[in-house]
Amino acid sequence: MSDFRVTAISKLHAEFSVPGDKSMSHRAAILGGLSNGVCTIRNFLPSEDCVNTLNAMKALGCQVEILEELPGYGPVNLRIHGQSMKLSPPAAPIDCGNSGTGMRLLAGLLAGQTFTSELFGDASLSSRPMGRITVPLAQMGATIETLGEKPGCAPLRIHPATLAPIHYEMPMASAQVKSAVLLAGMFADGKTSVTQPAVTRDHTERMLASFRVSTRTEGNTISIYGGQVPESCDFTVPGDISSAAFWLVAAAALPGSRLLIKDVGLNPTRTAILKVLTRMGAHMTEIVHQSEGEPIGHIEIHGAALKGTTILESEVPNLIDEIPVIAVAAALAEGTTSIRNARELRVKETDRITTVVDNLRAMGAEVQEFEDGMDIQGGAKLHGAVIDSFGDHRIAMAFAIAGLFAKGETVIRNTECVNTSYPGFAHHLQAVLAHRSQPADFNLPTVSRA
Ligand code: S3P
Repeated sequence: MSDFRVTAISKLHAEFSVPGDKSMSHRAAILGGLSNGVCTIRNFLPSEDCVNTLNAMKALGCQVEILEELPGYGPVNLRIHGQSMKLSPPAAPIDCGNSGTGMRLLAGLLAGQTFTSELFGDASLSSRPMGRITVPLAQMGATIETLGEKPGCAPLRIHPATLAPIHYEMPMASAQVKSAVLLAGMFADGKTSVTQPAVTRDHTERMLASFRVSTRTEGNTISIYGGQVPESCDFTVPGDISSAAFWLVAAAALPGSRLLIKDVGLNPTRTAILKVLTRMGAHMTEIVHQSEGEPIGHIEIHGAALKGTTILESEVPNLIDEIPVIAVAAALAEGTTSIRNARELRVKETDRITTVVDNLRAMGAEVQEFEDGMDIQGGAKLHGAVIDSFGDHRIAMAFAIAGLFAKGETVIRNTECVNTSYPGFAHHLQAVLAHRSQPADFNLPTVSRA
């Protein structure tokens, strides 16, 4: 199992782009596969999570042509042949790997089919709650067995069902749950609607619009009429702002730095990280060059001495995946940063409250843990430590960033997991450690990682 060995940097001057957005790549594979024709998807994220979803669509009868690959990882440009909403029974159980998004969205897709299917995942995914989707899907008439050792957990066995539309009030702010219900609603006769307690990422709604499937958003309620067949279209996935976040924090916390992240998704339901880093003192400019559909642009950031901040309750769903690296920024800032109302972190790939708190403490930061978050007293010099990712990609990458500011060497153990969302992270880390600054230095490897 590979390690990252990280020491402090004194300089960060770079321009590069990060791989495609994970949330959008899952959705592009699913909607492309449901569409009525051939869709070209560019800048697909060739990560284990998204490749598993693509393989799921293949197993459900969709032909996939690979146009270009990131060797050793997976397809970047591809063509998917849609099945006009008529999926075929899979020959074997479908592997969702580490991906909560993959499993929950696919469960919504499969809930209203005429065949039985099974979804399974790795140990982490098999311990994450699936009741949040099986409950609303059962209300629609789905029959889903949770076969896991832990009650309410995967594997999922999904039986044939005819779905009826519902109105569902989501108890938690989760784009995965919203999307599972909307995908199931595409197979129900009539209007399915879902009300979220707070705004969550709206990629499903935006991508459905790209495929000419109409949805209606009124306040926090989104509705869809079943029976619409997505019209095939081509889709270019922007860079993932959640992957960019690691480098944005590194640049923000290093006075004198300058970083330009190119062609990244700037969907307003994902950009709270930019507001938070600006509030903490970083200087930032966004240059939007596509504003329709999914906004895309460049982010230029200049580092400064950061100060602590309070993360607002309304911001939490918008930056849920960035909290581990925001916590690292907080440890590097003067003053206290307060993160609350983030209980959802406990049911991510790891319990991210515990893994962040324990790892920050191991590097010398003062942190108080709460059931729904943490307070971080920043300003103490971090020291190198041996850090376990616990198999969680965002923990591995967040603490690699912490290592760039620590005295001595930081070793991150168990780093293979970064491939679930950011293939090529190790390559970008090496370029930053070597103070390389040309865009070409950051081009992802063209030779196989094997
Ligand atoms: C995602 C939604 C979020 C996020 C995950 C991706 C999505 O989860 O943490 O990485 O693509 O819908 P929740 O919706 O469960 O909060």
